[in-house]
Amino acid sequence: SVLTDLIYGGSHAVAGLTEGAVNDAIAKHGADKAIAFPDTAYFFPTIYAATGVKVAKLGDLPACVGVLKSLITDQEDLGQALNAGLATAVGAEILEGLKYLDGADPYAAETGIGFVPDPVIRSLGVPLVTGDIPGVAVVLGKADNAADVVSVVKDYQSKGILTFLIGGVIDQCAEGGVKMGLELRVVPLGHDVTAVIHAVTVAIRAALIFGNVQPGDLPGLLKYTKERVPAFVNTFGAIDNVVVSAGAGAIALGFPVVVDIDLGENQVPGALESVLDHSLTVKHSLELRNIKIKTKELPIPVAFAAAFEGEIIRKADMHTEYWSGKNATAELVLMRDPSEIEDHKITILGDDMDGGEKNYALCTFIEVAGAKMQADFESVIERKIHAWFNYMEGVMHTGQRNQVRVRVSNDAFAKGLRLKHFGEVLYHMIMDEFDAVVDKCQVTLITDEAAAEKFRDEVAMPRYNERDDRLLSMTDESVDRFYTCILCQSFAPAHCCVVTPERLGLCGAVSWLDAKATNELNPQGPCQPIFKEGCLDERTGRYESVNKMIQEATHGAVENVTLYSILEDPMTSCGCFECICGIEPVSNGFIVVNREYKGMTPVGMTFGELASCTGGGVQTPGYMGHGRHFISSKKFIAAEGGIERIVWMPKELKDDVAERLNRTAKELYGIDNFTDMIADETICEDCEALMDFLTEKNHPVLGLEPLM
Ligand code: SF4
Ligand code: NI
Ligand code: NI
Repeated sequence: SVLTDLIYGGSHAVAGLTEGAVNDAIAKHGADKAIAFPDTAYFFPTIYAATGVKVAKLGDLPACVGVLKSLITDQEDLGQALNAGLATAVGAEILEGLKYLDGADPYAAETGIGFVPDPVIRSLGVPLVTGDIPGVAVVLGKADNAADVVSVVKDYQSKGILTFLIGGVIDQCAEGGVKMGLELRVVPLGHDVTAVIHAVTVAIRAALIFGNVQPGDLPGLLKYTKERVPAFVNTFGAIDNVVVSAGAGAIALGFPVVVDIDLGENQVPGALESVLDHSLTVKHSLELRNIKIKTKELPIPVAFAAAFEGEIIRKADMHTEYWSGKNATAELVLMRDPSEIEDHKITILGDDMDGGEKNYALCTFIEVAGAKMQADFESVIERKIHAWFNYMEGVMHTGQRNQVRVRVSNDAFAKGLRLKHFGEVLYHMIMDEFDAVVDKCQVTLITDEAAAEKFRDEVAMPRYNERDDRLLSMTDESVDRFYTCILCQSFAPAHCCVVTPERLGLCGAVSWLDAKATNELNPQGPCQPIFKEGCLDERTGRYESVNKMIQEATHGAVENVTLYSILEDPMTSCGCFECICGIEPVSNGFIVVNREYKGMTPVGMTFGELASCTGGGVQTPGYMGHGRHFISSKKFIAAEGGIERIVWMPKELKDDVAERLNRTAKELYGIDNFTDMIADETICEDCEALMDFLTEKNHPVLGLEPLM
């Protein structure tokens, strides 16, 4: 057929290019020349996932070209033709990989980021499972009419869809005023059509990172991407056989392709479809992948979408600023008796934004009432203010409690945005997301400096202090239940977190109070109570009831977990962990590395390489993903001796947790300034220098029993 001819034509063209490029590179650099994509533990991800082959030098590539060519059978069969599409993906991966030869930075001068590093993929885990990012669009080509692609991409952005751009559409969107960047969910990859592989390997590495798909298990890989990665492709403008063949590769991975030219009888329903009217492209694409968007119609004059969360407002673009550095600020949610408040009452005490000043105080005071409301949920609701304010286009919010900065852009002000709309946003979002516990909600915004100061000092601060005291007194011993969290199962089907007061979820986003609130809001939802019953071993935190729930929640994939050990049945990791803790055998200690750290560690592995040792819901003794706040917990690797086993952390992480960690070390062991004894990358990146440092500091790990 015309379609299979096009696919095979494109695959042959790419195969020829790839073979030539590999031969040239070997002739020039030799077969032993090392080759790698930046910041990944998965080699050439498509080749690695599909075949298990670890490409590390140019000499590894000819065999891959051989495999690639064997996939192009020229048989008149759609399934065979889709395999040829995978060959094109492999070819594109090799061609793009060659661009990075010799430490080159091929995308430095491009409006595209090229290869997406592993840590970025891990950071997408939570927003994907919460539905914050409801899907992934790959938009490629060059639109006949630039306005068409601009409106399609803006529509995806307003819906929170993560959109990758390849080709001329990048410049068309840039000129059309689309705000781009990873935080804004619109990511330009590159201008060459081969750059599409950088979107493809995100899906492929998701299977390896979260899904525990084994390298070489091609059917398992294709099943994972089809069922669990909600991606699809839109092409704009004329398409040649290379694009068609790349599209066939996408279809083989389970991603439908929507083109804007008429394919007539060559369409494959559900997989390859023509949509000529661009006003229908988004709707039809989402339907093909069954992606449902919860639309929020709010009575405000600017857009409201998760995609605007990362928007930055510079001083020059700013109309009004509320900042604790200059004026009093506070954010407080308080539980009230229903008789004390009036539903949907929004009050502004002081000037609104048109009051003539650039800087104001701002206290955001939310009073809620409800039969099932609990004081413990105040802080859970309060922490959402940050996201909700940020979702307004033209509003930037940082901080919490009495340390807050809010900026409103000139543009948003000109569109009519005022503080009363902030109140509307809070009211409607609370009634929407917390309707199970909140029946009535009233919002007061205070900009009058004297009133704000009084509110902050006399109402807000005492309440924060009360809550902090309660959190400090909340230990695993003081509660009668823990919670499961299986939110990440949509990507890591065998993973379940156990969340306790002293051990938050490994993503860092789910504390015990959050899990409790989630359970209250949605009793059949992802967080289920585990009653503390049948303690088998206090040292490792082993409970009959925990094991039973874990077996149920993972459908038997995991039988036993401990709460406090990293060596004996440690908790599983899904892949989206904030930090990883791993054994450092020379010192008998552990290192802790955060996702943002790009350098080397004394165990000879980067964060990405350490992270690839665990994940996908598998137990890997000696390695464990966890949240930042867990590090200073008295329960952190408690079975192995606790925090006095920590020997190395990146400096940024160490500084961030120092205050709490030092407090815990003082309480547990009577050590002052414990973090001074922990090495970091400014001190050493190898294990001999690490031992010298630990000896010099008389680090307590040197006096502990060997780990194994
Ligand atoms: Fe995923 Fe665990 Fe965080 Fe839940 S607590 S969202 S399962 S990482
Ligand atoms: Ni309203
Ligand atoms: Ni996760």
